[in-house]
Amino acid sequence: MTYSVAVSGASGYAGGEILRILAAHPDVEIRTVTAHSNAGQPLIQHQPHLRSLAHLTLSETSPEVLAGHDIVFLALPHGQSGQYTDALGDTPLVIDAGADHRLTTEADWDRFYGGDFHEPWAYGVPELPVAGAKQRERLVGASRIAAPGCNASTVSLSLAPGVAAGVIDSADIVTVLAVGPSGAGKSLKTNLLASEVLGTANPYAVGGTHRHIPEIAQALRGAGAEGKIGISFTPVLVPMARGILATSTAPIAPGATDEQIRAAWETAYGDETFVQLLPAGQFPRTADVVGANTALMGLAIDRDANRVIVVTAVDNLVKGTAGAAVQSMNIALGLAEGTALSVNGVAP
Ligand SMILES: NC(=O)c1ccc[n+]([C@@H]2O[C@H](COP(=O)([O-])OP(=O)(O)OC[C@H]3O[C@@H](n4cnc5c(N)ncnc54)[C@H](OP(=O)(O)O)[C@@H]3O)[C@@H](O)[C@H]2O)c1
Repeated sequence: MTYSVAVSGASGYAGGEILRILAAHPDVEIRTVTAHSNAGQPLIQHQPHLRSLAHLTLSETSPEVLAGHDIVFLALPHGQSGQYTDALGDTPLVIDAGADHRLTTEADWDRFYGGDFHEPWAYGVPELPVAGAKQRERLVGASRIAAPGCNASTVSLSLAPGVAAGVIDSADIVTVLAVGPSGAGKSLKTNLLASEVLGTANPYAVGGTHRHIPEIAQALRGAGAEGKIGISFTPVLVPMARGILATSTAPIAPGATDEQIRAAWETAYGDETFVQLLPAGQFPRTADVVGANTALMGLAIDRDANRVIVVTAVDNLVKGTAGAAVQSMNIALGLAEGTALSVNGVAP
Protein backbone atom coordinates (compact mmCIF):
# COMPACT_ATOMS: atom_id res chain seq x y z
CA MET A 1 0.00 0.00 0.00
CA THR A 2 1.17 3.53 -0.75
CA TYR A 3 0.13 6.17 1.78
CA SER A 4 -0.74 9.66 0.57
CA VAL A 5 0.95 12.38 2.60
CA ALA A 6 0.51 16.11 3.17
CA VAL A 7 3.26 18.12 4.87
CA SER A 8 2.37 21.53 6.27
CA GLY A 9 5.07 24.03 7.15
CA ALA A 10 6.88 22.66 4.12
CA SER A 11 8.85 25.87 3.54
CA GLY A 12 10.38 25.65 7.04
CA TYR A 13 13.26 23.66 8.48
CA ALA A 14 11.30 20.87 10.17
CA GLY A 15 8.89 20.49 7.23
CA GLY A 16 11.83 20.45 4.81
CA GLU A 17 13.56 17.70 6.77
CA ILE A 18 10.38 15.62 6.94
CA LEU A 19 10.18 15.95 3.15
CA ARG A 20 13.86 15.02 2.66
CA ILE A 21 13.36 11.80 4.63
CA LEU A 22 9.96 10.96 3.09
CA ALA A 23 11.36 11.50 -0.42
CA ALA A 24 13.35 8.28 0.13
CA HIS A 25 10.46 6.37 1.74
CA PRO A 26 9.11 3.55 -0.48
CA ASP A 27 5.66 3.46 1.11
CA VAL A 28 4.56 7.09 0.83
CA GLU A 29 3.58 9.49 -1.89
CA ILE A 30 4.10 13.16 -1.03
CA ARG A 31 0.99 14.63 -2.56
CA THR A 32 0.57 18.02 -0.89
CA VAL A 33 2.92 20.60 0.64
CA THR A 34 1.64 23.72 2.37
CA ALA A 35 3.00 26.98 3.75
CA HIS A 36 1.79 30.34 5.00
CA SER A 37 3.38 33.56 3.70
CA ASN A 38 5.09 31.58 0.92
CA ALA A 39 1.97 29.73 -0.30
CA GLY A 40 1.67 29.74 -4.08
CA GLN A 41 5.41 29.48 -4.67
CA PRO A 42 7.34 26.44 -5.93
CA LEU A 43 8.64 24.26 -3.07
CA ILE A 44 12.06 24.15 -4.74
CA GLN A 45 12.40 27.92 -4.27
CA HIS A 46 12.43 27.40 -0.50
CA GLN A 47 13.99 23.93 -0.32
CA PRO A 48 16.50 23.98 -3.19
CA HIS A 49 18.18 20.80 -1.86
CA LEU A 50 15.00 18.74 -2.44
CA ARG A 51 15.57 18.19 -6.16
CA SER A 52 13.28 15.17 -6.46
CA LEU A 53 10.33 17.25 -5.23
CA ALA A 54 10.76 20.10 -7.72
CA HIS A 55 7.32 19.40 -9.19
CA LEU A 56 5.50 20.45 -5.99
CA THR A 57 3.94 23.87 -5.30
CA LEU A 58 3.25 25.23 -1.82
CA SER A 59 -0.49 25.49 -1.11
CA GLU A 60 -2.26 27.52 1.59
CA THR A 61 -2.39 25.70 4.92
CA SER A 62 -6.08 25.02 5.55
CA PRO A 63 -8.11 22.10 6.91
CA GLU A 64 -9.62 21.59 3.43
CA VAL A 65 -6.21 21.31 1.73
CA LEU A 66 -4.82 18.97 4.40
CA ALA A 67 -7.92 16.72 4.51
CA GLY A 68 -8.19 13.64 2.31
CA HIS A 69 -4.67 12.28 2.88
CA ASP A 70 -3.72 9.11 4.74
CA ILE A 71 -1.06 10.94 6.74
CA VAL A 72 -0.69 14.63 7.63
CA PHE A 73 2.49 16.09 9.10
CA LEU A 74 2.12 19.45 10.87
CA ALA A 75 5.38 21.43 11.11
CA LEU A 76 3.98 24.79 12.17
CA PRO A 77 4.91 27.31 14.85
CA HIS A 78 3.63 26.10 18.22
CA GLY A 79 0.07 27.15 18.92
CA GLN A 80 -0.88 26.83 15.23
CA SER A 81 -1.40 23.06 15.02
CA GLY A 82 -4.41 22.75 17.28
CA GLN A 83 -6.76 24.57 14.89
CA TYR A 84 -5.93 22.07 12.11
CA THR A 85 -5.86 18.93 14.23
CA ASP A 86 -9.40 19.63 15.41
CA ALA A 87 -10.52 19.67 11.77
CA LEU A 88 -8.63 16.54 10.71
CA GLY A 89 -10.84 14.05 12.54
CA ASP A 90 -11.12 11.73 9.52
CA THR A 91 -7.38 11.62 8.78
CA PRO A 92 -6.03 8.20 9.78
CA LEU A 93 -2.66 9.47 11.02
CA VAL A 94 -1.65 13.00 12.06
CA ILE A 95 1.86 13.75 13.31
CA ASP A 96 2.56 17.13 14.90
CA ALA A 97 6.15 18.39 15.03
CA GLY A 98 5.02 21.32 17.18
CA ALA A 99 4.48 21.42 20.92
CA ASP A 100 0.67 21.61 20.87
CA HIS A 101 0.05 17.96 21.74
CA ARG A 102 3.12 17.10 23.81
CA LEU A 103 2.26 18.21 27.33
CA THR A 104 -0.11 16.20 29.48
CA THR A 105 -1.04 18.95 31.94
CA GLU A 106 -2.77 22.22 31.17
CA ALA A 107 -0.89 23.93 34.01
CA ASP A 108 2.45 23.24 32.29
CA TRP A 109 1.05 24.44 28.96
CA ASP A 110 -0.26 27.66 30.50
CA ARG A 111 3.00 28.37 32.30
CA PHE A 112 5.41 27.70 29.44
CA TYR A 113 3.34 28.36 26.27
CA GLY A 114 -0.09 29.86 26.84
CA GLY A 115 -3.13 29.90 24.56
CA ASP A 116 -5.52 27.02 24.00
CA PHE A 117 -4.53 23.69 25.53
CA HIS A 118 -4.94 20.64 23.29
CA GLU A 119 -5.10 16.99 24.27
CA PRO A 120 -1.81 15.10 24.58
CA TRP A 121 -0.93 12.59 21.84
CA ALA A 122 1.37 9.56 21.81
CA TYR A 123 4.89 10.90 22.35
CA GLY A 124 7.17 10.20 19.38
CA VAL A 125 10.36 9.01 21.07
CA PRO A 126 10.26 5.23 20.55
CA GLU A 127 13.39 4.35 22.54
CA LEU A 128 12.35 6.18 25.71
CA PRO A 129 12.06 3.83 28.71
CA VAL A 130 8.54 3.99 30.16
CA ALA A 131 7.29 1.95 33.10
CA GLY A 132 9.28 -1.20 32.37
CA ALA A 133 8.75 -0.96 28.62
CA LYS A 134 9.59 1.39 25.75
CA GLN A 135 7.56 4.24 24.32
CA ARG A 136 7.46 2.42 20.95
CA GLU A 137 4.81 0.06 22.33
CA ARG A 138 2.48 3.06 22.73
CA LEU A 139 3.10 4.12 19.13
CA VAL A 140 1.96 0.83 17.56
CA GLY A 141 -1.28 1.59 15.75
CA ALA A 142 -1.33 5.20 17.00
CA SER A 143 -3.39 7.65 14.98
CA ARG A 144 -2.16 10.86 16.63
CA ILE A 145 1.53 11.39 17.40
CA ALA A 146 3.35 14.33 18.98
CA ALA A 147 6.94 14.45 17.72
CA PRO A 148 9.31 15.62 20.45
CA GLY A 149 11.04 18.88 21.18
CA CYS A 150 14.64 18.43 20.01
CA ASN A 151 16.31 19.56 23.23
CA ALA A 152 13.75 17.78 25.36
CA SER A 153 14.13 14.39 23.70
CA THR A 154 17.92 14.68 23.79
CA VAL A 155 17.95 15.25 27.55
CA SER A 156 15.17 12.74 28.24
CA LEU A 157 16.95 9.98 26.32
CA SER A 158 20.17 10.91 28.14
CA LEU A 159 18.80 10.46 31.64
CA ALA A 160 15.73 8.19 31.46
CA PRO A 161 17.73 4.92 31.75
CA GLY A 162 19.30 6.12 35.01
CA VAL A 163 15.93 7.20 36.34
CA ALA A 164 14.26 3.92 35.33
CA ALA A 165 17.00 1.89 37.03
CA GLY A 166 16.99 4.10 40.15
CA VAL A 167 20.73 4.86 39.90
CA ILE A 168 20.44 8.67 39.67
CA ASP A 169 18.58 11.29 41.67
CA SER A 170 16.21 13.27 39.46
CA ALA A 171 15.74 16.06 42.03
CA ASP A 172 19.03 17.73 41.01
CA ILE A 173 19.49 17.45 37.23
CA VAL A 174 21.76 19.94 35.51
CA THR A 175 21.89 20.08 31.72
CA VAL A 176 23.77 22.48 29.46
CA LEU A 177 23.21 22.24 25.73
CA ALA A 178 25.17 23.60 22.80
CA VAL A 179 22.55 24.13 20.08
CA GLY A 180 22.64 25.28 16.46
CA PRO A 181 20.35 28.06 15.22
CA SER A 182 18.27 25.81 12.93
CA GLY A 183 16.55 24.72 16.16
CA ALA A 184 14.86 28.13 16.21
CA GLY A 185 13.38 27.81 12.71
CA LYS A 186 13.88 29.62 9.44
CA SER A 187 11.94 32.83 9.95
CA LEU A 188 14.02 36.01 10.24
CA LYS A 189 15.07 36.94 13.77
CA THR A 190 17.70 39.55 14.64
CA ASN A 191 19.40 37.36 17.24
CA LEU A 192 19.89 34.66 14.60
CA LEU A 193 21.63 36.86 12.03
CA ALA A 194 25.07 35.57 11.02
CA SER A 195 26.65 38.68 12.59
CA GLU A 196 25.04 37.81 15.92
CA VAL A 197 25.84 34.08 15.87
CA LEU A 198 29.19 33.57 14.15
CA GLY A 199 32.27 33.61 16.37
CA THR A 200 30.31 33.65 19.63
CA ALA A 201 28.36 31.42 22.02
CA ASN A 202 25.06 32.93 23.20
CA PRO A 203 23.17 31.59 26.24
CA TYR A 204 19.40 32.04 26.21
CA ALA A 205 16.33 31.06 28.26
CA VAL A 206 18.55 30.85 31.36
CA GLY A 207 17.03 30.15 34.76
CA GLY A 208 14.18 27.69 34.38
CA THR A 209 12.26 29.40 31.59
CA HIS A 210 12.90 27.15 28.57
CA ARG A 211 9.77 25.52 27.17
CA HIS A 212 11.28 22.07 27.00
CA ILE A 213 11.68 21.75 30.78
CA PRO A 214 8.16 20.38 31.48
CA GLU A 215 8.49 17.98 28.52
CA ILE A 216 11.67 16.51 30.06
CA ALA A 217 10.08 16.27 33.50
CA GLN A 218 7.09 14.49 31.96
CA ALA A 219 9.34 11.97 30.18
CA LEU A 220 11.37 11.28 33.31
CA ARG A 221 8.22 10.82 35.35
CA GLY A 222 7.09 8.34 32.70
CA ALA A 223 10.42 6.54 33.10
CA GLY A 224 9.69 6.12 36.81
CA ALA A 225 10.92 9.27 38.56
CA GLU A 226 9.09 9.84 41.81
CA GLY A 227 8.91 12.94 43.96
CA LYS A 228 10.51 16.22 42.98
CA ILE A 229 12.12 16.55 39.57
CA GLY A 230 14.56 19.48 39.49
CA ILE A 231 16.01 20.46 36.09
CA SER A 232 18.49 23.28 35.66
CA PHE A 233 18.42 23.72 31.86
CA THR A 234 20.74 26.10 30.01
CA PRO A 235 20.89 26.17 26.21
CA VAL A 236 23.77 27.95 24.49
CA LEU A 237 23.48 28.96 20.85
CA VAL A 238 26.69 28.08 18.99
CA PRO A 239 27.72 28.60 15.36
CA MET A 240 26.76 25.27 13.76
CA ALA A 241 23.74 25.06 11.47
CA ARG A 242 22.47 21.78 12.92
CA GLY A 243 23.12 19.88 16.08
CA ILE A 244 22.69 19.58 19.83
CA LEU A 245 25.38 18.52 22.28
CA ALA A 246 23.69 18.05 25.64
CA THR A 247 25.81 17.54 28.76
CA SER A 248 23.44 16.28 31.44
CA THR A 249 24.42 15.41 35.00
CA ALA A 250 22.63 14.08 38.07
CA PRO A 251 23.71 12.86 41.52
CA ILE A 252 24.45 9.17 41.90
CA ALA A 253 21.70 7.47 43.92
CA PRO A 254 22.93 6.21 47.32
CA GLY A 255 24.54 2.79 47.00
CA ALA A 256 24.57 2.61 43.18
CA THR A 257 27.74 0.93 41.91
CA ASP A 258 29.63 1.88 38.75
CA GLU A 259 28.59 -1.44 37.20
CA GLN A 260 24.91 -0.84 37.97
CA ILE A 261 25.09 2.66 36.54
CA ARG A 262 26.65 1.69 33.22
CA ALA A 263 24.40 -1.37 33.00
CA ALA A 264 21.34 0.90 33.22
CA TRP A 265 22.22 2.59 29.92
CA GLU A 266 23.56 -0.59 28.29
CA THR A 267 20.34 -2.42 29.11
CA ALA A 268 18.13 0.44 27.91
CA TYR A 269 19.88 0.99 24.59
CA GLY A 270 21.90 -2.17 23.89
CA ASP A 271 19.34 -3.39 21.34
CA GLU A 272 18.49 0.01 19.86
CA THR A 273 19.57 1.04 16.38
CA PHE A 274 19.13 4.79 16.66
CA VAL A 275 20.27 5.40 20.25
CA GLN A 276 23.80 4.23 20.80
CA LEU A 277 25.98 4.27 23.92
CA LEU A 278 29.69 4.67 23.16
CA PRO A 279 32.31 2.56 24.96
CA ALA A 280 33.52 3.90 28.32
CA GLY A 281 35.83 6.89 27.90
CA GLN A 282 34.39 7.92 24.51
CA PHE A 283 32.14 10.92 23.92
CA PRO A 284 30.25 12.04 20.81
CA ARG A 285 30.62 15.11 18.61
CA THR A 286 27.72 16.76 16.84
CA ALA A 287 29.66 16.28 13.59
CA ASP A 288 29.17 12.52 13.94
CA VAL A 289 25.38 12.70 13.68
CA VAL A 290 24.70 15.38 11.06
CA GLY A 291 21.97 14.03 8.78
CA ALA A 292 21.63 10.86 10.89
CA ASN A 293 18.68 9.64 12.91
CA THR A 294 21.12 8.72 15.64
CA ALA A 295 21.42 9.87 19.24
CA LEU A 296 25.04 9.15 20.17
CA MET A 297 25.84 9.03 23.87
CA GLY A 298 28.87 8.91 26.16
CA LEU A 299 28.64 8.17 29.89
CA ALA A 300 31.03 9.06 32.71
CA ILE A 301 30.84 8.50 36.46
CA ASP A 302 32.48 11.22 38.53
CA ARG A 303 32.83 9.87 42.07
CA ASP A 304 34.50 13.07 43.35
CA ALA A 305 31.52 15.13 42.26
CA ASN A 306 29.18 12.17 43.01
CA ARG A 307 27.47 12.67 39.65
CA VAL A 308 26.70 10.72 36.50
CA ILE A 309 27.49 12.67 33.33
CA VAL A 310 25.86 11.86 29.99
CA VAL A 311 26.96 13.67 26.84
CA THR A 312 24.58 13.17 23.92
CA ALA A 313 24.80 14.43 20.34
CA VAL A 314 21.82 14.58 17.98
CA ASP A 315 20.92 16.32 14.76
CA ASN A 316 18.02 18.49 15.96
CA LEU A 317 16.28 18.26 12.60
CA VAL A 318 16.59 14.47 12.27
CA LYS A 319 16.50 12.51 15.57
CA GLY A 320 15.28 15.71 17.25
CA THR A 321 12.26 16.15 14.94
CA ALA A 322 11.75 14.77 11.46
CA GLY A 323 13.54 11.45 11.97
CA ALA A 324 11.63 10.86 15.20
CA ALA A 325 8.40 11.73 13.37
CA VAL A 326 9.03 9.31 10.49
CA GLN A 327 10.30 6.57 12.83
CA SER A 328 7.10 6.96 14.85
CA MET A 329 5.05 6.92 11.64
CA ASN A 330 6.71 3.65 10.61
CA ILE A 331 5.88 2.08 13.97
CA ALA A 332 2.29 3.34 13.91
CA LEU A 333 1.74 1.86 10.44
CA GLY A 334 3.48 -1.45 11.17
CA LEU A 335 6.29 -0.75 8.70
CA ALA A 336 9.94 -1.60 9.39
CA GLU A 337 10.89 0.99 12.02
CA GLY A 338 14.03 2.21 10.26
CA THR A 339 12.50 2.64 6.79
CA ALA A 340 14.02 5.72 5.08
CA LEU A 341 16.14 6.50 8.16
CA SER A 342 19.91 6.24 8.40
CA VAL A 343 22.22 5.71 11.36
CA ASN A 344 25.02 7.19 9.27
CA GLY A 345 25.85 10.88 9.29
CA VAL A 346 27.51 13.14 6.75
CA ALA A 347 31.18 13.98 7.31
CA PRO A 348 33.25 16.09 7.40
N1 LIG B 1 13.76 23.42 13.99
C1 LIG B 1 13.90 22.38 14.80
O1 LIG B 1 15.01 21.89 15.05
C2 LIG B 1 12.68 21.79 15.47
C3 LIG B 1 12.87 20.69 16.31
C4 LIG B 1 11.77 20.13 16.95
C5 LIG B 1 10.51 20.64 16.74
N2 LIG B 1 10.36 21.73 15.93
C6 LIG B 1 9.01 22.27 15.77
O2 LIG B 1 8.60 22.22 14.43
C7 LIG B 1 7.72 23.32 14.16
C8 LIG B 1 8.25 24.06 12.94
O3 LIG B 1 9.53 24.56 13.27
P1 LIG B 1 10.56 25.06 12.17
O4 LIG B 1 11.87 25.12 12.85
O5 LIG B 1 10.42 24.24 10.94
O6 LIG B 1 10.02 26.54 11.89
P2 LIG B 1 10.19 27.42 10.56
O7 LIG B 1 11.45 27.02 9.86
O8 LIG B 1 10.05 28.82 10.99
O9 LIG B 1 8.96 27.01 9.65
C9 LIG B 1 7.64 27.36 10.00
C10 LIG B 1 6.70 26.89 8.93
O10 LIG B 1 5.36 27.16 9.35
C11 LIG B 1 4.71 28.03 8.38
N3 LIG B 1 3.87 28.96 9.13
C12 LIG B 1 4.25 30.06 9.82
N4 LIG B 1 3.18 30.65 10.40
C13 LIG B 1 2.10 29.91 10.05
C14 LIG B 1 0.70 30.01 10.32
N5 LIG B 1 0.20 30.98 11.06
N6 LIG B 1 -0.11 29.06 9.78
C15 LIG B 1 0.37 28.06 9.02
N7 LIG B 1 1.68 27.93 8.73
C16 LIG B 1 2.53 28.83 9.25
C17 LIG B 1 5.83 28.71 7.63
O11 LIG B 1 5.34 29.06 6.33
P3 LIG B 1 5.93 30.32 5.51
O12 LIG B 1 7.38 30.06 5.31
O13 LIG B 1 5.16 30.30 4.24
O14 LIG B 1 5.66 31.54 6.34
C18 LIG B 1 6.89 27.59 7.59
O15 LIG B 1 6.60 26.68 6.57
C19 LIG B 1 7.69 24.20 15.43
O16 LIG B 1 6.55 23.93 16.17
C20 LIG B 1 8.93 23.74 16.16
O17 LIG B 1 8.83 23.89 17.56
C21 LIG B 1 11.41 22.29 15.27
